[in-house]
Amino acid sequence: MVKRKLREPLEDRKGTLYFDGISTTELAKTYDTPLYVLSEKRIRDNYNRLYSAIVNNYKYVRIYYAAKANTNLNVLRILHSQGAYLDTVSPGEVFLALSAGFTPDRILFTGTSVRNDELKMLSNANITINVDSQSEMDRLLKISVPQILSVRVNPEVGAGHHSHCITAGPESKFGLWEEEVIQAYAIAQRARVERFGIHMHIGSGILEVEPYVLAVEKLLSIAKRVHEEVGINFEFIDIGGGFGVPYKPEDKDLDLAEFSSKVVSMFKNKVKEYGLGKPYLFVEPGRYLVCDASILLTAVNSVKVTPGRKFVGVDAGFNTLVRPTMYGSYHPILVANKLTAADKETYDVAGPVCESGDLLAKERKLPEIAEGDLLAVLNAGAYGFSMSSQYNSRPRAAEVMIRGGKAVIVREREQLKDLVTNQKIQGES
Ligand SMILES: Cc1ncc(COP(=O)(O)O)c(C=O)c1O
Repeated sequence: MVKRKLREPLEDRKGTLYFDGISTTELAKTYDTPLYVLSEKRIRDNYNRLYSAIVNNYKYVRIYYAAKANTNLNVLRILHSQGAYLDTVSPGEVFLALSAGFTPDRILFTGTSVRNDELKMLSNANITINVDSQSEMDRLLKISVPQILSVRVNPEVGAGHHSHCITAGPESKFGLWEEEVIQAYAIAQRARVERFGIHMHIGSGILEVEPYVLAVEKLLSIAKRVHEEVGINFEFIDIGGGFGVPYKPEDKDLDLAEFSSKVVSMFKNKVKEYGLGKPYLFVEPGRYLVCDASILLTAVNSVKVTPGRKFVGVDAGFNTLVRPTMYGSYHPILVANKLTAADKETYDVAGPVCESGDLLAKERKLPEIAEGDLLAVLNAGAYGFSMSSQYNSRPRAAEVMIRGGKAVIVREREQLKDLVTNQKIQGES
């Protein structure tokens, strides 16, 4: 019998995986698969842990949850009740934020390649914008001069778990570079913008503190120049998100105490040294708050042995969780109904999508698997459902949340009829 190291809210009860106190095999029976299961408690714990670590070293802090990681209205409402603010990247996310009860003053917009009608909508709704280019700023100022404006800076240092997720440095499409930043604030000031913030986001899935140290130092040195050369004060300095979560067995947790003592303390000391007053420190975590607060349950349809490999065919593919296919990401997988069985076989875990790249895991050591077994794909809460699709004309999965010790449905499973929504049959065929 194997005893596995499980993190909260996972538990082994007599060989069955429990998630936040509820049996995963019962959840699969009741709600069918593929099924995303979320834990309210874990979201709240993640928020509190991060907030405490930062506020410990700097009082004026706000957490802007990066909604793109998981836009379920219940997730947004839980974070709202925690006191979070929201970072959004599209009018759709702003709509969801407002629907979840966030007032405009608690919403930030950090888009890229933004359309004029989107700028108009944001401006009408009084949403604070982090502009991503001079073009975006010029077009916004023509639409209307906002009270408060922020510029996304490329601090010339990027980091992340995959090249697609490095959002600063020489190869990045995001943000303005130092000299352009100085000019941008001068233009905004001449246009009579009165209040200012400054922003960066260097990447996603960062488990080390060092990239933040370098990038925050650069951001603050640019803020100092803007303050001295343009003569403006910053209400907020936003250092972005990117806080990583361990996925692979060898990954270590981001050391929050180290982050706070090295990055937050340095922030506090430098804003004082540079005469920047007491700006709010904004952080924009997405993954950190929701990643390990959800698992994806998927049932085994088939086991197939070819001369080269052993495949386990499950009912969730890259239509349901795209990260393994898109980034080659590793997600831990447990056989939920055989937790104590030893890892004896090496499998590729394949989805139902008609593409060879549709693998949730490659060469994974797992217990011997049979048809009807239930797999739990861990760390599925961030960029899981929010990146899912109807590819291969498969309706999207359902979502269930564990709240107060009970499972409640928080998103109905899509039906076949949802596949024809918005389609129009035109003419004779
Ligand atoms: C502007 C911005 N802020 C925050 C985030 C959140 O990143 P993470 O989920 O890694 O914390 C992202 C993610 O892409 C982003 O683009």
